[in-house]
Amino acid sequence: MLFLTILLSLSIQKSTCYEIEPMFGQKYIQFPTSTNNSLAQKHFIFGLAHLHSFEYSFASEQFEKAYSLDSKFAMAYVFSALTNIQPVWLGENPKAGWEQIKQMNLHIDFEKLTQREQLYVEAGRNLFKRGILHYNDYINSLKIIYDLFPMDNEAGLFLVCVLFRKTQPEIRGYLNRNSQGRQLQIKILKIILKTNPNHPGALHYFTHVYDQPQTASCALSNTLKYSCIAQSSSHAQHMSSHIFLRLGFYRQALIANLESDEIGMNIQRQYHSIEFMHYIYLNMGRRTYALQFLENLKSLINNNTFYRMQYGIMYDRHIVETQNYNFAFDNPFDLIICSECTVLGDLLWLYQINSGLLLVKGFSTIKNDQQYNSTIVQYYIEQLVNMSIEVNKTEPTLSISILAMTLQLKAFHQYYRLATTNDEKNLALNYARIANELELSVNPPSYGPPIDPVKPSQELYGELLLENKQYEKAIEEFLHVMTYFPNRTLTLIGLARGYSLLNRTNLARLYYSCLINDVLYNS
Ligand SMILES: *[C@@H]1O[C@H](CO)[C@@H](O)[C@H](O)[C@H]1NC(C)=O
Ligand SMILES: *[C@@H]1O[C@H](CO)[C@@H](O)[C@H](O)[C@H]1NC(C)=O
Ligand SMILES: *[C@@H]1O[C@H](CO)[C@@H](O)[C@H](O)[C@H]1NC(C)=O
Ligand SMILES: *[C@@H]1O[C@H](CO)[C@@H](O)[C@H](O)[C@H]1NC(C)=O
Ligand SMILES: *[C@@H]1O[C@H](CO)[C@@H](O)[C@H](O)[C@H]1NC(C)=O
Ligand SMILES: *[C@@H]1O[C@H](CO)[C@@H](O)[C@H](O)[C@H]1NC(C)=O
Ligand SMILES: *[C@@H]1O[C@H](CO)[C@@H](O)[C@H](O)[C@H]1NC(C)=O
Repeated sequence: MLFLTILLSLSIQKSTCYEIEPMFGQKYIQFPTSTNNSLAQKHFIFGLAHLHSFEYSFASEQFEKAYSLDSKFAMAYVFSALTNIQPVWLGENPKAGWEQIKQMNLHIDFEKLTQREQLYVEAGRNLFKRGILHYNDYINSLKIIYDLFPMDNEAGLFLVCVLFRKTQPEIRGYLNRNSQGRQLQIKILKIILKTNPNHPGALHYFTHVYDQPQTASCALSNTLKYSCIAQSSSHAQHMSSHIFLRLGFYRQALIANLESDEIGMNIQRQYHSIEFMHYIYLNMGRRTYALQFLENLKSLINNNTFYRMQYGIMYDRHIVETQNYNFAFDNPFDLIICSECTVLGDLLWLYQINSGLLLVKGFSTIKNDQQYNSTIVQYYIEQLVNMSIEVNKTEPTLSISILAMTLQLKAFHQYYRLATTNDEKNLALNYARIANELELSVNPPSYGPPIDPVKPSQELYGELLLENKQYEKAIEEFLHVMTYFPNRTLTLIGLARGYSLLNRTNLARLYYSCLINDVLYNS
């Protein structure tokens, strides 16, 4: 709201050297066009800054202002069309993009455009041709522009951005990760940042490319710079929390999301920040705050599917992280049906939530003496198996992840309810071990909370080993988890308990004090 007011006053003001503009990093974006209308050009650059921060509706608003001031403004139409693809979030609206291209075709003088502009127009036409997306044609068009105009940062950055469609590392089930694509992204980003070290798009995409446990620390300085130069962008504020969490800095991650939430912008992104905060609070010993987020959402779950899904994802996580197995019975919640989930991003999200839900319902049934019923647990296992088969063809890696969850649930059931002999307990441990292998085979550990509501298989395996008095082995598993999800409360507890049971008091004290000092005290 505040943002709109500022923008409004901006367009009325005559430009002065000292006007206070919201900061999206727009001043680091150069994109000369053949419009003669300087105000239109200004809106256009603003739109680009928004687009590079994934603020799609704000970007499209700016582009619309630009072409309403200059109806022949070809680049404004092209980039407005681009607001209809969201490569990192796997969202897309090809029909709307095509409408935008058709509108452009009616207005522009193609012959009068520069060669570079003509190539962009063709890139946009190729991408949305007849309302069907042609990503490879678009990628090839961008490569041609970038080859011919290597100083055009935007050509390089649009290429980096659309390649996320192939390399996007966060989402389970999207790990046919194309390493060539990733190498190209890194190469382009490094070249651009050398000459334009403050470009908001380059800093933002750099963060996404490196948003993995093994590489997150390389992104830290660029991420911090991004949140600084794009101070008015809620996404830029949120983005650094991805990197902080990879590095185990919960407190900093919390602050980043609080700042993002304060800026607001749109409801989807606000809830994304809230779900991060919910996970963070759960790992800072602030269960009451975390619970409050869930309770606040509860009243909205009948309003629409978006709220149901947002509640579902936090619900799964709540039970995984608190291990409060009464919660599911005190707050019954069923699998989500979503007929409007058609784009890939939504479908993946739906499967993530529902598979997580089956898992936590299963855990809860197993651990609750009043509610335990083996038939019901078997039913949840069967539903997970069916879900894994359902996505076998289209999302093979998601399918394997869900299979891993099936084995987690089998391990849990076998260990806590079915096994009586040592051999039977070993069978349970074996399920957990296979779950871990499956999970690692498709998801070199870069998935996971808070993007995904999952129980890290390795942590589960460690917990079962601990129960089985195999302390050294349990510690080994927990130490592994620390390398990709550092400072998770449950992992720290596992380590502290393991060392304590081995009478290695100093190390036990170290991990207990990590929990108390670093996590609880600092919160
Ligand atoms: C912009 O101005 C230049 C020089 O005055 C003129 O040649 C050109 O036709 C104008 N372009 C547009 C799109 O109006
Ligand atoms: C979290 O983990 C990192 C790396 O493992 C460590 O450096 C840091 O001190 C830990 N604690 C906090 C509160 O960040
Ligand atoms: C929930 O739905 C009701 C009725 O459809 C509507 O009036 C209300 O604004 C909605 N609330 C939210 C937060 O979307
Ligand atoms: C367990 O659940 C099944 C399926 O809901 C039900 O038919 C059965 O009676 C239950 N068994 C017990 C012991 O409650
Ligand atoms: C799993 O799929 C099989 C085969 O389609 C079906 O018969 C069975 O009812 C399904 N089970 C569950 C729990 O949905
Ligand atoms: C998919 O199903 C086929 C045939 O049942 C099986 O060979 C393959 O391993 C499955 N793939 C995944 C990813 O589950
Ligand atoms: C740890 O010390 C206790 C008390 O001295 C002892 O009973 C226990 O066996 C020791 N545990 C191990 C793993 O050495």
